[in-house]
Amino acid sequence: MAQDIHHETTPHGERAPSCTLVIFGAGGDLTKRLLMPALYNLARTGLLPENFALVGVDRLEMTDASFQLHVEKAVREFAADKHYSQTLNEAHLERLISSLTYMSLDFASPASYQQLGQKLQDLQSSHHVSQNVMFYLAVGARFFGGIVDQLGQAGLVTETPDQWRRVVVEKPFGHDLESAQALNTQLRHSLAENQIYRMDHFLGKETVQNIMLMRFANGIFEPLWNRDHIDHVQITVAETVTVESRAAFYESTGALRDMVPNHVFQLLALTAMEPPASLSATDVRNEKTKVLTSVHRVNPVTDSVRAQYAAGQHDGHAQVGYKQEPGVAADSTTETYVAMKLGIDNWRWAGVPFYLRTGKAMAKRHSEIAIQFKRPPISLFRNTATESLTPNTLVLKLQPDEGASLSFGAKIPGPKIEIGQVHMDFHYKDYFQNAPSTGYETLIYDCMIGDATLFQRSDSVMAGWDIVKPLQQHWQQQGATTLPTYAAGSDGPQASDDMLAQSGRAWRTLS
Ligand code: BG6
Repeated sequence: MAQDIHHETTPHGERAPSCTLVIFGAGGDLTKRLLMPALYNLARTGLLPENFALVGVDRLEMTDASFQLHVEKAVREFAADKHYSQTLNEAHLERLISSLTYMSLDFASPASYQQLGQKLQDLQSSHHVSQNVMFYLAVGARFFGGIVDQLGQAGLVTETPDQWRRVVVEKPFGHDLESAQALNTQLRHSLAENQIYRMDHFLGKETVQNIMLMRFANGIFEPLWNRDHIDHVQITVAETVTVESRAAFYESTGALRDMVPNHVFQLLALTAMEPPASLSATDVRNEKTKVLTSVHRVNPVTDSVRAQYAAGQHDGHAQVGYKQEPGVAADSTTETYVAMKLGIDNWRWAGVPFYLRTGKAMAKRHSEIAIQFKRPPISLFRNTATESLTPNTLVLKLQPDEGASLSFGAKIPGPKIEIGQVHMDFHYKDYFQNAPSTGYETLIYDCMIGDATLFQRSDSVMAGWDIVKPLQQHWQQQGATTLPTYAAGSDGPQASDDMLAQSGRAWRTLS
């Protein structure tokens, strides 16, 4: 097992140290749409290393020149997208392109990794780079273990005090607790824990990073952030996209594995964690893991719902049901929606339900964390019963309308005492200029400077899989069964509303 070697981290905001980035899966979609535009943005903001080289690795045959052309086209298309930069800076683009080389590699052939080692040596003289190397595995999850074994056997991930070697692993990290543990054991044969950067791109989102800031950089929220004042919490990650062309991946993955142990649980951990002793990767990740390991064992029968979208309408367009999508089995039991109720067994949260839901083909693309406070204990107002006072809700809006809002009651002007609900709204765009970003910039940069705060540590990945294990087991026992459905373009299945109604609560509406 590899030993941890400590390397100094570069302070945030300074140019990353010289390194080579090796991308496995360089011909794939992730590289084209997100990684390359992100690297361009890092070049534009002066954070990409001064001496930098990129080796694109894939099974396709390409020359350096054809790879450079492929990337140039991708950056022009995707970095110029309205979500990113409006105009391209040709000098920065040129700089990025000139750092690119390509190597066609058979992922399973030891000889290929010897050649890769030689290439990394050669880049030292041709591109004046150091021997720091970041390997980015932008490939299917089934390749992670094998590639890392080969890197280890070829001696490519051996660190010295002056040379770091890091491996970024995309999600999904396993498909259940056992497979995640097996993958972790396999990676740890060649890598120390601090060399593994387990990616969860939600942690690269500004609004997700803002959750900790909202809570711990303000004096007014934290004193109320507990079981004495909070009735329940709702975490929603709703998407309008359907399975699109991803049936091959999605059919065996489903909404639970695709979104919950990773993205949704990261939101849960950031919402429920205790203040960390410092912002170091260790302190922050310790607190997040503590939340996940304190989650009460879920009863899958009463506290979870899975469903599949049926035909419906979205934005005036007819949408076919999941089973009619290309590549999806006509009798598929893959869930495209999942909701659950969780409890956290600690002093802050005992008795406060956390309701989580995520789904595809829903009414609106909307991700938020809604903190619903308790009602006032009595109503002073004639004709208004305590139960009909609407509770205050603080909503952290993650995407696409980024911001926060607080709702409270106010007097409706007039001689009668009547209470109306009002909202105080904060929109990011009103205060801050939005930097063009794919969300991957921070994560790539953080790996280069050696800051693992925004990456998942193995214990939190395992804790996430452990929480969903009863659901996975229950669904497996149920075998082939007909899933509840929801109309595409709706807020989700009735069964999910029923789950909250049991305790007199209701989901916030999406539409
Ligand atoms: C990915 C999932 O991890 O996250 C996708 O595999 C999902 O199914 C996506 O659509 C959502 O991410 P974002 O950044 O588009 O909200």
